[in-house]
Parts: sequence; structure tokens; C-alpha cells
Amino acid sequence: MSQTVRAAVFPVAGRGTRFLPATKASPKEMLPIVDKPLIQYAVEEAIEAGATKLVFVTGASKRAIEDHFDTDAALEQALTDSGKDKQLQSIRDIVPDGVSCIYIRQGEPLGLGHAVLCARPAVGDEPFFVHLADDLIAGSPGCLKQMAGEHARHGGSVVAVETVPPESTSSYGIVAVDGDDRVAQIVEKPAPEDAPSNSAVVGRYLLDPTIFDKLETTGRGAGGEIQLTDAIADLLDDLAVYAYSFSGTRYDCGSKLGYLQATVAYGLEHPDTGPEFRAHLRSLLKG
Ligand code: UTP
Repeated sequence: MSQTVRAAVFPVAGRGTRFLPATKASPKEMLPIVDKPLIQYAVEEAIEAGATKLVFVTGASKRAIEDHFDTDAALEQALTDSGKDKQLQSIRDIVPDGVSCIYIRQGEPLGLGHAVLCARPAVGDEPFFVHLADDLIAGSPGCLKQMAGEHARHGGSVVAVETVPPESTSSYGIVAVDGDDRVAQIVEKPAPEDAPSNSAVVGRYLLDPTIFDKLETTGRGAGGEIQLTDAIADLLDDLAVYAYSFSGTRYDCGSKLGYLQATVAYGLEHPDTGPEFRAHLRSLLKG
């Protein structure tokens, strides 16, 4: 009924305007949460879900992402010479054996749908994950692994959804579902009065490759961009798309507030920083 999902697509070619000036020369996916960049959390989540082919759709100023996942022989040697074994292991573990990285350039940021279409030659004719690294989701198992479980149960495509305040619908793709959680309607960024619900699609998708044919013919939609949501809407008549309410906490790290909230949450949990950071926050809040 369902196929193992081997490819994960990471669209990282957006302009990240909500986080300027930090994202002028450096991609927002390289923003660190404690000691790892967002894109590394993304890759770890995809690998946990079974992905072995990581496809990065990159744009201008994204070299740092390729460098991050590349081997740095000089740095490894320096860490070896200075006996920094823990740090050495932390960089060697970034891409495990058996996992490959592919980089595809999106010439112009024409939208998320266009970025996903750029990945077609690397993905081929198989179901695949799409992971938006700025939506950081803390959960165990990770969100993509939960979605792979859903896919194994009933096949089809799966989109992760979360209930958002009614006034926020214009920031998301919004779905209406039938009794089996099958998506009946999906609309990109509707005004609250036009939204079919307040169930919002977040940055995790497990898609049937038929989506590529739909994307080929999807015109520009909201914001003048080629929207993944519009292509999914075209898919609904042909194939089942399920809305999956994941378990976990999502942080919108493309926004300043979400990024700070994630930093605090992860800083409190991290073994190197947790206890002292907690004490520090307590003293700050008392003041
Ligand atoms: P966003 O809507 O967050 O846009 O894109 P953005 O440009 O990255 O950020 P803001 O809103 O200007 O601050 C959602 C995801 O789609 C990718 C982004 O990198 C992000 O992961 N994307 C968007 C592309 O890869 N290409 C595009 O043309 C547009």
C-alpha cells in the first residue's frame, strides 16, 4: 500500500525577510538553536524518519549550508591534534554513513511550490518528505517519523496540521477535512472570514510524486508565488491527502519571537546549559 520514504527535500531558497538583517548574508536555516543550526535539526528529523537522500533546494547566500554538511578535513585534523574528541565526534556525526546530500539551485525565489518542483530530478518517482527547517518541532518521535507511520497505515499524501487562532489563518495554508481526516479543501492564506477552518498546515509534508505534475501547471497564487498549497489542492481529486495532527511543540523560527521561544525551550533542556540557564532566567524574571 505504501512505499518507504527515502528522499527528503529541504527548500532553503527563501529570502527570510522577517529575520533581516540577520539573514542578509547568512541563511535563516543556519540560525543556531543552542549549538546546532536549524537545518541540522531538520536533517536529523528526516534521517530518524528513514530518509537517506537529502535534497537541498538552495538560492543566493546559501553556501554556508553546503559547507555545514561537507567534510572539513582541516578542522577535523585540528580537533584531533588538540584532543577535542567530543567536538570532533559532533562534526563527524552531522551526516551519517549511508546518507547522501544533493544540492539544487532555485534560480529565483518564485515560491515554495517552485522550490519543490526544482527537486524533481533528484527525487524521481517516489513519495518524499518536504521539511521547512524554520518550523522547528520538538517531539519524540519526530514529526516526520510520525507522518511516515501514518503513510504506512493508509498510503496517500500527508500534511502536518495544527490548530491556530482564527485571526492567524492568513499566514498559513488552511484545510477542511472529512470524517477520516482526509483533506477535502485546502486554501493558501485565507482571510479569517474566508477560511474553511483554523486547521493550518505547518512545515512538514509527505507527498506523492504526482505533485510534480501538478506543480508544472500551477500558476502564481498568493503573493505572486507558485504555492505548494495550490498544487496540493489540484491533487485532492486524484489522490488522498490526509491531515495529520502531530504530537509535539512547534516553534516558528522564521519569526523573531518563535526563534527566541525555541532558544529558551531548548536551552533549558540542553545538558550543557539547562541548570545554569534556568537559574539565570529565574533571576532575570525576579528583577
Ligand atoms: P517563507 O514563507 O518562510 O518565506 O518560506 P521566506 O522567504 O523563507 O521568509 P520570509 O517570510 O521572507 O521571512 C517557506 C519556506 O519555503 C522556502 C523558504 O526557504 C522556507 O523554508 N522557499 C520559499 C524557497 O525555498 N523558495 C522560495 O522561492 C520561497
